[in-house]
Amino acid sequence: MAMSIIHFVQIAHMSLAKLDVTNVRNIETANLNPSPRLNFIVGPNGSGKTSLLESIHILGRARSFRSTQSGQVIRFQQDSLTVAGRVIEGEGLATTPIGVRLGRRKREIALAGNRLQSSAELIRAFPVLLIQPSSSGLLDGAPKARRQFLDWGAFHLDASFLDNWRGYARALSQRNALLRSGTSRGIEIWNHELVRYGTIVDCARFAYAERLRPYFHTAVSHFLGQMPFDLDTVAGWDRTKQLDEVLIADLAHDLRDGYTHSGPHKADFQVQADDRPAKNYLSRGQMKLLVFALLLAQSHLLEESLGSKGCVLIDDLASELDNGNRIKLLGFLHQRQAQFFITATDPRILEPAGMVETAVFHAENGRVTQV
Ligand SMILES: Nc1ncnc2c1ncn2[C@@H]1O[C@H](COP(=O)(O)OP(=O)(O)OP(=O)(O)O)[C@@H](O)[C@H]1O
Ligand SMILES: [Mg+2]
Repeated sequence: MAMSIIHFVQIAHMSLAKLDVTNVRNIETANLNPSPRLNFIVGPNGSGKTSLLESIHILGRARSFRSTQSGQVIRFQQDSLTVAGRVIEGEGLATTPIGVRLGRRKREIALAGNRLQSSAELIRAFPVLLIQPSSSGLLDGAPKARRQFLDWGAFHLDASFLDNWRGYARALSQRNALLRSGTSRGIEIWNHELVRYGTIVDCARFAYAERLRPYFHTAVSHFLGQMPFDLDTVAGWDRTKQLDEVLIADLAHDLRDGYTHSGPHKADFQVQADDRPAKNYLSRGQMKLLVFALLLAQSHLLEESLGSKGCVLIDDLASELDNGNRIKLLGFLHQRQAQFFITATDPRILEPAGMVETAVFHAENGRVTQV
């Protein structure tokens, strides 16, 4: 436990100092020296802007955000793609090599010269957040995305979260398998495991939402002014009761349907605007700003709690935002310490940006060049 915490702190503080992309969609090769702060990628439709962000996402998470099949991301006629980079630790000049190669069936991850078996260490070493036009699904889509949002934060702030989360997932899948087989014989052991891990997962998510709240309020008041917004978490069971009591009381119901109805796997959160669910009343642009507020709050909290700058990818920043809000948003990004990669089709996005610590890249037919 103590060991893992020491390790955890040592590998934080990262931003990308060098990026080498090979065979990602229409990008044959791209070699970038990004700014530690703001990076703009500007170019026409189909030029490779999202593919560049996809590459950085692969470097931080070992998977794409557009496709679950790496075969679709690998450049046509090629067998594998490679994304490599160097991440800077803290304020120092020392950099750590990091790399991911995806074949059609094979995945290789390297960090500081070591091969990694799981992506967890990579995700911790180079935290990447993504904001894209479809991110408003975070507010009006299925609850899974909102649980993943809380889990991402809890994972980064709590070194033991992943083990507990995995323990919960294993217990849930075993309990559901037993329920599907039509018997409750031996279910006590899975109830016990579910409660043991589930309570910890629930507490970690709840604690994360508590820590996030002030950052969310700062961001949302910057973007959406005086309307009072709040973030309400839902546990996934009737919180006035203990989870073990709920599992026992639900047993007949669970057996009939063949799955576990209550528990942290049903957790969720909602954003309220003036005490009403925001998703039912906000305009498209306001929803987009609200998603920005949530994700930038995550990044800001990471910045302040771990001293980790992390990296935020913003695809198509301008879409659905009026000029005033674009300027507001860029002003907010300038105040943060994180590294941003921002794509746009219209170079006028750069006019209010202020060029301090800003790098601009032009994408054209899969070629990305620094301007
Ligand atoms: N596996 C692949 N191999 C080669 N090219 C691909 C592959 N998958 C997609 N492409 C092409 O890559 C190009 C770049 O797509 P990308 O989504 O990165 O463009 P973009 O610059 O983000 O455009 P937009 O402004 O429309 O969002 C597209 O023309 C697409 O057809
Ligand atoms: Mg795109």
